[in-house]
Amino acid sequence: MASILAQSLTRCYGRTLAVDHVSFEVDGGTVLGFLGPNGAGKSTTMKMLTGYLHPTSGTALINGHDIRTARRQAHQVLGYLPEGAPLYSDMRVGDFLAFVAAARGLGRAEVRESVGAVAERLELTGVLKQSIGTLSKGFGRRVGIAQALIHDPPILILDEPTDGLDPIQKSQVRRLIQEMAEQKIIIISTHILEEVEILCHRVMIIAHGKLQLDGTPADVRSRSRYAGALSLVVDQPQTVASKLSGLAEVKNVEFRAGKLTAFPSGQGALATAVQALIQSEGWVVREFHLESGRLDDVFANIAGQDEANA
Ligand SMILES: Nc1ncnc2c1ncn2[C@@H]1O[C@H](COP(=O)(O)OP(=O)(O)O)[C@@H](O)[C@H]1O
Ligand SMILES: [Mg+2]
Repeated sequence: MASILAQSLTRCYGRTLAVDHVSFEVDGGTVLGFLGPNGAGKSTTMKMLTGYLHPTSGTALINGHDIRTARRQAHQVLGYLPEGAPLYSDMRVGDFLAFVAAARGLGRAEVRESVGAVAERLELTGVLKQSIGTLSKGFGRRVGIAQALIHDPPILILDEPTDGLDPIQKSQVRRLIQEMAEQKIIIISTHILEEVEILCHRVMIIAHGKLQLDGTPADVRSRSRYAGALSLVVDQPQTVASKLSGLAEVKNVEFRAGKLTAFPSGQGALATAVQALIQSEGWVVREFHLESGRLDDVFANIAGQDEANA
């Protein structure tokens, strides 16, 4: 079973504290999303996890291998797509993949086999003879993912894997991640909320180098002030709003973009009380929606707070 244990990972660049005592534990079968604004410390954390950057303090165990003392062993179980996926543009795709495979310690026959397998998986068979520099962005990213996968590692760390791709290419990469997710640990970084909702079993919100929140997307959503709120579209929002405000179950009511939102006071069941009122008043209700909370609201609060502190 794949495992990652990060222990107080910390990195300073000069006087910039880029990653500040980040600790977590992940097991196989998990897609973990690092979610955070630009400059939050996502890439730096990934570079430390993959052993490409030395922590200022703290460490990480990759399948039990300490990245400070057993980098080589850690690399054997890791695949890494760096930020921006730098590639050797003059090399041909097939040669590049073979080069990476050999560098990962695969023998001659294994190299040929793994290049064939990974090319098939990422639909690169048709471009193996093409030089990397002439590929479209979508193909280029697939080559980047292919090199991370070449030795079939149980742990994949993908830094913004869908960044800069068009919507079709984004969904192809997402599908691939989902397919691979069953056994592996896959960590992706993103600033796209939708991506977290679609792909991730677990999300860590990172801001200012600190782990701010760690949970399932549903956990994170439930931290939103919208969790448990009731949104309504009605014909007479003013009247409805004022009556709703009178209920003990309602804390306050907001009207935005044609929609009324009643926030729970915590006293009694909000939905039941509102439904009863709708019935007795005979209001025409076009939409009635109990909110599970909004990821973007939680994210904006954390990111906004962050800006205020900056
Ligand atoms: N090589 C570097 N030298 C100096 N500062 C850096 C370097 N790389 C990143 N930083 C700084 O560290 C912080 C975290 O950056 P990064 O990990 O790239 O964030 P993210 O990937 O979340 O956008 C930022 O303030 C960034 O400017
Ligand atoms: Mg980054």
